[in-house]
Amino acid sequence: MRNWWQQAVIYQIYPRSFADSNGDGIGDLRGIIGKLDYLAGTLGVDAIWCGPVYPSPQVDFGYDITDHTAIDPIFGTLDDFDALVTAAHARGIRVIIDLVPNHTSDRHPWFVESRSAPDSPKRDWYVWADPLPGGLPPSNWTSEQGGSTWEFDEPTGQYYLHSFHRTQPDLNWRSPRLRAAMLDVVRFWLDRGVDGFRIDVLHMIAKDPELTDNPPRPDATPNPADLQHPDYDTQWHVHDRMHPDLYGYLAEIRDLLEEYSRRTGQERIAIGEVEPMPWDSWTRFLGSELDGVHFTFNFNFIESPWHAAGLRASIGAQEAALPRGAWPNYVLSNHDRPRLATRNGPRSARLAALLLLTLRGTPTLYNGDELGLEDLEIPREEWLDPLGRDQVRGPMPWTSSRNGGFDSSPADASPWLPVPTRYLERSVERQLADPGSILNLYRRLLAFRRTSPALLRGEYRPLDCPPDCLAYLRSTPEQTLAVLLNLGAENATVDVPRPGHALLSGDRTPRRRFVVAAHEGLIVQLEPEVP
Ligand code: BGC
Repeated sequence: MRNWWQQAVIYQIYPRSFADSNGDGIGDLRGIIGKLDYLAGTLGVDAIWCGPVYPSPQVDFGYDITDHTAIDPIFGTLDDFDALVTAAHARGIRVIIDLVPNHTSDRHPWFVESRSAPDSPKRDWYVWADPLPGGLPPSNWTSEQGGSTWEFDEPTGQYYLHSFHRTQPDLNWRSPRLRAAMLDVVRFWLDRGVDGFRIDVLHMIAKDPELTDNPPRPDATPNPADLQHPDYDTQWHVHDRMHPDLYGYLAEIRDLLEEYSRRTGQERIAIGEVEPMPWDSWTRFLGSELDGVHFTFNFNFIESPWHAAGLRASIGAQEAALPRGAWPNYVLSNHDRPRLATRNGPRSARLAALLLLTLRGTPTLYNGDELGLEDLEIPREEWLDPLGRDQVRGPMPWTSSRNGGFDSSPADASPWLPVPTRYLERSVERQLADPGSILNLYRRLLAFRRTSPALLRGEYRPLDCPPDCLAYLRSTPEQTLAVLLNLGAENATVDVPRPGHALLSGDRTPRRRFVVAAHEGLIVQLEPEVP
């Protein structure tokens, strides 16, 4: 028997773009509540991760928080949040929310107080440092948004650290009082019934206290699977993150989750968001006794080259890296990176569905990927996000009518981002009516996954197959499935170890050899092994 989060398919909701209940052009909590039947019934996912809905000036679209224990009016109220948790739980859906521990908005009252004077009682809640001789910033660290991570504060004569935008000062987890305040934030949401947290940039919460310069990276090449400012890649980010003190801070969060899990009988989890990194660093967040995060988003998979050998290597590497008892996970898109159908081409989207939902481990599906959406094309001068990530955050097209039914109120506002005609052609409404649509493929796969012991908990074993194919077995004593995926542009023939029949497709004739169409895949149920 596995824990809920090991059996679950997690669905990432980008709240601004999911569903707008009040016609102001921005998605909101009531909008999400209105779509829970879609999530639980029509689609069939088990948990939602809802992006940040806290009060915020929205410079970083909610990752710049001014109050950790309230809801921004653009998204609704605390009552709406409570209603979302209740309605989700009533449908068997768990609710995971963002915890943003690395920084706040510069308008957060904590920072306003910290900034007010060098001897402010909250000065050490943030990272402040004196200028170097000549007034230079305390280190050469560069930010994901370009330029130095240090901002000079004229009135108090010191620099503050901002690993992201200059309006997002970094918190100082070395301060016990700050840690206590953040644990209170965690308690606040646990008391409201949330099932877990996605911890934003967990690898960054502790930095080198000596503020040592990062070494230069002369061979910097931009990463096409990520959206960062070119400045960011000009150095190796070794001193501005990943300081080992962070594991102790993480343990404090995990202890609190354990306390609540024990007390309420409802298991509460922590998912780490960390940048792609070598596997041994990545697994360290799990804790030496599996007492850190429950899992860390597997972004190495997002960055894996989209060909059979690359994916096979990436899957094998995670399987090999995980310590005993740890659980794998897979991610193919999120709100920070080009969508998978844009990165890998629209023909990759169906195959990605088969891959994501048949590997061993917890899949996280980004809203809109079930429709095969591609990125919006927004000219640079119209970007709202400094890194252009609006393009991967387009509104969900629910219907094929005006604005894709994103705005469900009679008011006539335009959505905060455009809903292009090609999104309307991929709307939920239209795809539900088409048995061959990618949405119906997701629905069939999700329904099958729920009842398949091999997919929920079976072992993973790669199979020999032609070079453009990726084939693997998923097996438990009661069920063995072979998953055959053809990433090539020609049909391919794949052999399975015992006779079996294809599932979720018309032809159920048992055979040992299958023809897999280009860019398609098959799930084959093998006959039981004869002892
Ligand atoms: C979030 C981003 C955000 C950044 C700073 C990330 O990893 O996913 O959307 O800009 O953290 O909070």
